[in-house]
Amino acid sequence: MGQPLASPGFTDGTVAVRGALLDFVDDPFYKPEAEVVRYVADGLLLVRDGHIEATGPYQELNSRLGDRPLIDHTGSLITPGLIDTHIHYPQTGMMAAYGEQLLEWLNRYTFPTERKFADADYARQVAELFLDELLKNGTTTALVFAAVFPASVDAFFEAAEARHLRMISGKVMMDRNAPDYLCDTAQSSYDESKALIEKWHGRGRLLYAVTPRFAATSTEAQLKLAARLLDEFPSVYLHTHLSENVSEVAWIQELFPQYQGYLDVYDQTGLVRSRSLFAHGVQLTDAEFQRLSEAKAAISFCPTSNLFLGSGLFRLEQAKNPEHSVKVGLGTDVGAGTSFSLLQTTNEAYKVAQLRGQKLSAFKALFLATLGGARALCLDDKLGSFEPGKEADFVVLDPQATPLLALRNEGGIPATLEDLEDLLFSLVIMGGDRAVAATYIMGELAYPSSV
Ligand code: GUN
Ligand code: ZN
Repeated sequence: MGQPLASPGFTDGTVAVRGALLDFVDDPFYKPEAEVVRYVADGLLLVRDGHIEATGPYQELNSRLGDRPLIDHTGSLITPGLIDTHIHYPQTGMMAAYGEQLLEWLNRYTFPTERKFADADYARQVAELFLDELLKNGTTTALVFAAVFPASVDAFFEAAEARHLRMISGKVMMDRNAPDYLCDTAQSSYDESKALIEKWHGRGRLLYAVTPRFAATSTEAQLKLAARLLDEFPSVYLHTHLSENVSEVAWIQELFPQYQGYLDVYDQTGLVRSRSLFAHGVQLTDAEFQRLSEAKAAISFCPTSNLFLGSGLFRLEQAKNPEHSVKVGLGTDVGAGTSFSLLQTTNEAYKVAQLRGQKLSAFKALFLATLGGARALCLDDKLGSFEPGKEADFVVLDPQATPLLALRNEGGIPATLEDLEDLLFSLVIMGGDRAVAATYIMGELAYPSSV
């Protein structure tokens, strides 16, 4: 008896998916790629109640299908959902803001844009569009800046909850060096963040990040209250920016002359922890990388943003130095970033490496966008690979999605790891949203919409 071919979208999170399966069991920056890449050219992913039940060759597992629907993605590559470790949802409408570097860009474009998020209806509209974009690009989890207004956080989490997404977000804390219309106070930011944590953190798949914008827009009092929230709620995250731009680093030194550099401001106020994620780190010193490693904190590498704002070239090999490794994920950093696509982000990450005389292999790039991102967010027990028990968020990539890709990958799904690396590299460089054939959340089709 033939398996019923499912109409994707009505699977109830219990489903079987056939295709070429690719994920990682460990970090290819530290172990030989052949040992950590798990590739099954004709594979089957068995999903029950939104979680991975088993994964392996189709021929071995097809006897376990039971009566679950089978979705056939033969000819495509299925990877764990992509993870964006740094993005701003209120900046969705202001990508491609011309001509400035970080500090001028913030004042001229960003602050006036974020003001609009005082309007909850507007925030809700943008949150929906933002989530549509993530899913269209194969991004299933993100660490997201909201705006300073608590209602902007509610709007985001409500939209994410309705789609059953695992998302992390938080209210921006900012009590100086920004327009009055965007400033809170140390106390109000503490009170409002606390109320939002109590409302959202751990509700369904949602998690909260305490989110001081960056040291320049917070007083020491505000940073210390942010740390108090981390003490009171040890499973919440800390999400902020760090050492992005040369003028920014100099300004931090002026604002905090009593500290030994940018990271030290966060460190001495109690914000450098294992659940802390710092965006950028382009200007970090070797000693600062070492301190992040000691603290088990994470960095989000945001190449499209770093190039767009002219911030500089991130030293990935220093972060991944085996002597003092730092957890690293990829971030799009929309709206300074120029694409929602993590595949476009790997493209620019590769070029940043090239400009520094380094190589970023296709497998390393995809690792950063999947299991590496999950590790950076301390979510690798739930996300980032096809390990049984993990949440079944995954992406279907079509290596022949366009005529150009079809020509480039005319051999179709490869049999060997070597050929796979070549095909994957074409997606790491050329694959944007068009290569994403489908995105599944907890075993259910989320893109393209089945309605
Ligand atoms: N530093 C402080 N705020 C921001 C922001 O919104 N975007 C970027 N890229 N850097 C920042
Ligand atoms: Zn940012």
